[in-house]
Amino acid sequence: MNQLDTNREQWNTRLGFILAAMGSAVGLGNIWRFSYVTGENGGAAFLLIYVLCIILIGIPILMAEFTIGRKAQSDVVGSFNKLAPGKPWVVAGILGVASAFIILSFYAVIAGWSVFYFIQYLIGGFRTTHADGYGGFFGEFISSPIQPLFWQFLFMAMTVGIVYVGVKKGIEKSNRILMPLLAILVIGLSIYSMTLGGASEALSFLFTPDWSALTNGEVYLAALGQAFFSLSLGMGALITYGSYLSKKESLPGAAVSVATLDTAFAIIAGLMIFPAVFAFGIAPDSGPGLVFVTLPGIFENIGGFGQVFGLLFFFLLSAAALSSAVSLLEVAVAYFIRKFDWTRKKAAIIVGAIIFVLGIPSSLGNGPLNDISIFGLEILDAADFLASNIFLPLGGLIIALFIGWGWKKADALEASDFGNTGIGNAWVFVLKWVAPVLIFIVFLASTGLLDVILGWFGVES
Ligand code: PHE
Repeated sequence: MNQLDTNREQWNTRLGFILAAMGSAVGLGNIWRFSYVTGENGGAAFLLIYVLCIILIGIPILMAEFTIGRKAQSDVVGSFNKLAPGKPWVVAGILGVASAFIILSFYAVIAGWSVFYFIQYLIGGFRTTHADGYGGFFGEFISSPIQPLFWQFLFMAMTVGIVYVGVKKGIEKSNRILMPLLAILVIGLSIYSMTLGGASEALSFLFTPDWSALTNGEVYLAALGQAFFSLSLGMGALITYGSYLSKKESLPGAAVSVATLDTAFAIIAGLMIFPAVFAFGIAPDSGPGLVFVTLPGIFENIGGFGQVFGLLFFFLLSAAALSSAVSLLEVAVAYFIRKFDWTRKKAAIIVGAIIFVLGIPSSLGNGPLNDISIFGLEILDAADFLASNIFLPLGGLIIALFIGWGWKKADALEASDFGNTGIGNAWVFVLKWVAPVLIFIVFLASTGLLDVILGWFGVES
């Protein structure tokens, strides 16, 4: 019976759907990942490529995911099987489920750190007495073998709890209040952070490009990966959410709202973090710990109220991470429910437990497993690199090609709500040519192959 996908839930309202998609998009990616990846890749030039990736590749693929999901009314794998039975497009679905496992495994580790910080503020103000300041405190915390695992477990348990309860009650409700609150706080804190004395350096870091950064092919891949990660794209989170939509909603507006809000969130978070980075003399490329070291410094500076802001901030960051984690888990859970005829409750618990275990090495990589490196990266960073920079863009590439080449154009236009309009045709054109070619070039550039090929034509980069 589940094969027919009857009994599937639906969002209560169009707004509920948009908020859930926003909740999926806005998360650690906008604050934790955006700031450290931007810092590592030199700032403004990276930011420009990132925004171009969102506009030229991200939004069209986001639209494609909504369209596929709503049309098929099934999970990622089921959607491709339904729309193109027996064709290889389903590879995108399989990659998607795999990405859900990998991403959530390390996502829960970072989210656990955020919950831990929240608790620090809750139990009586967080002012470090560590000799090396917040950096030292953070380093000690993440290298402990047990503590981070505890918070990771707690976070996974909450994620499982929400998915267990289901689409409407669990996922839709939890997004309504938290998102606007987080937005207000991030805007307020960015205004304050600009007064700390690092504002002009931060603005030039973020908005005055150093073009020489662009000769490095890896910067393009980092920007592409960040665009996919931040928009929750390329792995079917938005196919899955689109599949809980009834036939009558209008998709393009939803796609543009989600992408705009997500990007605005990231840039404002940058305006919150980088002034403090420069004011406190922290290196912008200090890696995944960046927000956990800079933000407590900001809160300490604010004085008494700072502790309240710290409390609120880490609460909201954890909540934003939760709504994203829910969408990651839902991709895998929706697949297992249909495929193995499991109940939602059973799928949520089993898949959640597996993902928790998969995440343990990422957590221990900062402590007991410190010596292990994969492609020269720590375990967590390697998992992130593989999923975000390779699997997501590859999944996105297949999704774009599916709409561009695998589906009759008239069907795609109809399913998307664009109809046979100029913008609809432009959308299909982008998915058919522009996005795939760009993704392909980025892959080539990042491996250094592009330089080799350009060399054949006598072009030196
Ligand atoms: N977009 C989420 C974030 O920015 C992460 C995510 C990636 C969620 C992929 C779902 C799918 O935190």
